[in-house]
Amino acid sequence: MENKLHIQEVVTRDGIQIESACITTEEKVNLINELSKTGVSKIEVSSFVSPKAVPQLKDAAEVFKNIDRNEAVTYVALVPNKQGAIRAVEADVDEINLVMSVSESHNMQNVRKTTEQSLQEFKKVMDIVKSTDIKVNGSLATSFGCPFEGEISEKRLFHFLRIYVEELGMDNVTFADTTGMAHPKQVQRLMKQAVNMYPDVPMTLHFHNTRGMGLANVLAGMDAGIVRYDASLGGLGGCPFAPGATGNICTEDLVHMLHAMGYDTGVDLDKLIALSEQLPGLIDKDVPGQVVKAGKITDLHKLD
Ligand code: COA
Ligand code: ZN
Repeated sequence: MENKLHIQEVVTRDGIQIESACITTEEKVNLINELSKTGVSKIEVSSFVSPKAVPQLKDAAEVFKNIDRNEAVTYVALVPNKQGAIRAVEADVDEINLVMSVSESHNMQNVRKTTEQSLQEFKKVMDIVKSTDIKVNGSLATSFGCPFEGEISEKRLFHFLRIYVEELGMDNVTFADTTGMAHPKQVQRLMKQAVNMYPDVPMTLHFHNTRGMGLANVLAGMDAGIVRYDASLGGLGGCPFAPGATGNICTEDLVHMLHAMGYDTGVDLDKLIALSEQLPGLIDKDVPGQVVKAGKITDLHKLD
């Protein structure tokens, strides 16, 4: 495995999409600008979805227009359909993150389409993007389990992976554990298979910590050779269209663990912690992240 791990921040998309507090465009822009200075490699800025479906992110275009871009960071927008892709191109995103669920029922709840209809939309999106330098990431939501259907067929997961890579020609792929159903042995086994199928396709893991298995799943993914991880500042997050959804793995907790283990993330943990401390003021409630509350282990060592 490469010793360098890539941390991809999703707080201003997955993190706040379910939050009801009024977060202003300026507050989102400021947070993204500060996150751009922490060393994360990607920031999922927002999503171009129906404003009725996710009102919190209706200002996506404004947010993109006002952020200061750091060349070292890839600025991503989540997109479910052709209309979203057109808006994303207009906003000059670096990368479009196309999302479809492996589970038929979650795809219907989330984007009101069959998987076949989503794939048809994605073909249109690939045509639009072809003449630009925008990259396309394909996300497979509910890769490890579905809140409606339970277990996910592995055959189906790899079938969609093959379509994403070979038929649609997506640049990279994300396996998302939308409601925290993955366990480490499953992650290790499935990701070894995925890496074996497409060793040259960059792959990301996107975990939610709904059942406390999030960071353990990262270690299992690393065992399989995956070096890219989505995480959300403070551990905020969750899909508004999945029952019982809770936060993503927490960025500062993830980085803290990886640094303690001697891995290089290129991320400034103290900057992340300082930013995370601002979140309760932004969303009017406490956040799940633990390192901010407990302190870094290196700080505790200093007390000896
Ligand atoms: N951006 C903005 N508006 C959009 C849009 C997009 N990407 N796609 C559709 N719309 C609008 C249409 O213009 C239409 O507006 P109108 O009612 O004012 O005429 C309305 O949404 C319905 O369009 P339709 O194509 O029939 O969509 P739908 O009702 O079948 O909903 C989605 C499909 C994908 C747009 C909707 O389910 C959605 O936005 N889901 C978001 C899911 C999400 O973000 N989940 C969390 C992240 S995984
Ligand atoms: Zn998510």
